[in-house]
Amino acid sequence: MAKIKSDARCYVALDLPSVAEAEAMVERLDDAVESYKIGLQLLPIGGVELGQRLKAKGKNIFYDFKLHDIGATVEKATRSIAGLRADLLTVHARPDVMRSAAKGRGNASLKILGVTVLTSLDQAALGAIGYSDTAESLVMRRVQQALEAGIDGVVASPLEAAAIRAVVPKDFLVVTPGVRPKGAAAGDQKRIATPSSALRSGASHLVIGRPITQADDPRQAAQEIAAEMSGV
Ligand code: C5P
Repeated sequence: MAKIKSDARCYVALDLPSVAEAEAMVERLDDAVESYKIGLQLLPIGGVELGQRLKAKGKNIFYDFKLHDIGATVEKATRSIAGLRADLLTVHARPDVMRSAAKGRGNASLKILGVTVLTSLDQAALGAIGYSDTAESLVMRRVQQALEAGIDGVVASPLEAAAIRAVVPKDFLVVTPGVRPKGAAAGDQKRIATPSSALRSGASHLVIGRPITQADDPRQAAQEIAAEMSGV
């Protein structure tokens, strides 16, 4: 059997302190990784340009901006980001924000994901904000609103993926962080699943950071995950 080298459904989170370190990591990972997520740590210090360089080399790019502002601003920001030819962009899953992002994206190939409920928010934190919904019902409410707004998918915990998959079309993206291969440290992630179980539950894409970037051999860690994913 041919060795599985990579899986484009796995977005590696480049949560590193500088573009130089991120570029060194990309070089180490080489053809073991096809897709990268660039988030708030790197975006203000050259992360956008890094994404464009990686895109030019044929990688898939996910800009995790988590936009949340008035409609006109979200629409214009999304239009700017759509011009970068990235593949995925996050916005907070509020109905007005999602509708504005869909408008700003227009006909560009950029796919918009709604961040349903941050996994760092527990019931007490939601109550303090003023939400009376449970986290689970808030997630499902926002999935419906994402569908109505015409965006392309959501970011959610792997433990919610099955409930979401049951109510969305086949091509709706369900992107799950909180993924840990067997034996990997959970770190600050609480609601975790293995790569294969997240996919079996209905995730279309996985976001994996530290289990790859902090591994002794990141390339081997990425290839082991790709091999596990290939069966699903
Ligand atoms: O290192 P780790 O695999 O935990 O990285 C997960 C990535 O997914 C991080 O970039 C983190 O910001 C992001 N994320 C998350 N939970 C969410 C949304 C995004 O862990 N609910």
